[in-house]
Amino acid sequence: MTKLISREQIVQDLPEIDDIESAELRQKVVDAWEFALGHSSFSRVTDIPGEGSKGVFLLTRGTQDAHLRGVTRLALGIYEEFRATYPEAKVDRDIILAGGLCHDIGKTWEFDPERLKQWKARPHRFGEPSFRHSAYGVHVCLSVGLPEEIAHICMGHSLEGAHIGHSTECFIIRQADHAWWHVAAALGLCEPDTISFAGPTLRVRPIGES
Ligand SMILES: [Fe+2]
Ligand SMILES: [Fe+2]
Repeated sequence: MTKLISREQIVQDLPEIDDIESAELRQKVVDAWEFALGHSSFSRVTDIPGEGSKGVFLLTRGTQDAHLRGVTRLALGIYEEFRATYPEAKVDRDIILAGGLCHDIGKTWEFDPERLKQWKARPHRFGEPSFRHSAYGVHVCLSVGLPEEIAHICMGHSLEGAHIGHSTECFIIRQADHAWWHVAAALGLCEPDTISFAGPTLRVRPIGES
């Protein structure tokens, strides 16, 4: 079920890839997306719905690239903010970049329309879903030879990640990921019936109001 995927389109959809300093890591991030899209019904990153999980934080506008890029830039911003005041605090910028751009790569599995159909029809056989994007993301990363640190971020950013200790870079991306969805919900950018994860204190500002 693998198909031809444009490596150029992957970089067009996730231009922060070019900001990764290590040429090897840069290539492997593209390899990972080529592998993940190639084993899915999607052709490019911008085809993947903008959603946290199925039915959770569904964006009213924009696709998964908006989230991946937003989380990556937000995580970098957190690092740069601390570095400005505390230069002695060290973070691996390449791991933040690659980890941010790959953290939800497993949504190529979890959101695949063909798989969703199969899980809905026979959940007693396959589960519903069989497993989430965090687990599939680990599979993708290890299959293409991405470092363990990136696979760890695929697992550690998610709900399943509550059961493991987090690396520094994973911890920052997890904070950025949760902040991104919660703020998107607060700004009225998610479907109202998909935001209960943001908690009972949230009062959504409707689009256009101040
Ligand atoms: Fe996720
Ligand atoms: Fe995410």
